[in-house]
Amino acid sequence: EAMNSLPFTNGDRMPILGLGTWKSNPGEVYTAVKEAVSLGYRHIDCAPIYENEAEVGRALSESFQENTVTRDKMWITSKLWNNAHAPEDVRPALEKTLADLKLDYLDLFLIHWPVHLRKGVLFPGSAEDMIGFEALPIGDTWEAMEALVGNGLCRHIGVSNFSIPKLKALVDSVCLKPEMNQVELHPYLQQPEMLDFCRKNNIHLTAYSPLGSADRPSELKADDEPILLKDSTIAMIARRHGATPAQVLISWAINRKTAVIPKSVNPSRMRQNLAAVEVSLSRDDMQAIAGLDRNRRYVSGDFWAMAGGPYTVADLWDE
Ligand code: A2P
Repeated sequence: EAMNSLPFTNGDRMPILGLGTWKSNPGEVYTAVKEAVSLGYRHIDCAPIYENEAEVGRALSESFQENTVTRDKMWITSKLWNNAHAPEDVRPALEKTLADLKLDYLDLFLIHWPVHLRKGVLFPGSAEDMIGFEALPIGDTWEAMEALVGNGLCRHIGVSNFSIPKLKALVDSVCLKPEMNQVELHPYLQQPEMLDFCRKNNIHLTAYSPLGSADRPSELKADDEPILLKDSTIAMIARRHGATPAQVLISWAINRKTAVIPKSVNPSRMRQNLAAVEVSLSRDDMQAIAGLDRNRRYVSGDFWAMAGGPYTVADLWDE
């Protein structure tokens, strides 16, 4: 139990393995979440931009009503979308998410991207849809996030897709430090410096796209992209443990003490993924996987780089 959760300074513990809901269709996520909770998932990762929080909320509230689980045993994360970064828009955005999820508090609320969009814009069509950091310092958004903890609307706050320099700027200047950075992490993108920085600064990491997110829409995929679930080293380690490649990928993330949120809407794969906590990788396995790193982002962030706009891919990751 203790090994399978991450401790926070106030004593709260986050279950290390959660269910991802990005790309889960509204039509399938209701059943998936109900099934997940009965299988024993105690952590669900959500976001309003996934456009399915109302369905997730229906599944959660029914699970509570049916006594499958109680609210305090669940860890629910959601995120602030980029178009609600103006300080006065932050609380209403969380209130909308809470209404959709049918909850009165979140366990964790994250700034989804270090990118500002104008109010009402979901994805930018041109540079005019975006706001730069000079016009709106990210610290202003963060201050509004801090107020939410005081108001009891969320227990913990953090960020997502932040580079080390962006994390550092925040940590050095704010009152309540971010307790989480949710970023893409898997054997092809291991980010050892990020791991090290976060460990030293008491920031937890959550690994998104841990299975390589092969179900991303085609416009978000490169033609030549390597398929993580088909990696031959991962397959070999999986065979050795009588496990599946997905279980090896999940177990690897847990071994590094990062939370991990594989997405599935399929009951047998959800069960398989949950059972990955029982796969224990050896030092040799971990070393073999360390050799697979190739700094390969599946989620490149290039959708924020608009001609004439305030963001470039290089600035986004500070690379
Ligand atoms: P499905 O939802 O049909 O199970 P990521 O978490 O990296 O975004 O990856 C999600 C993708 O991986 C989805 O296409 C999901 O499909 C698939 N997936 C989830 N669990 C497994 C598994 N155990 N084996 C193979 N594919 C899986």
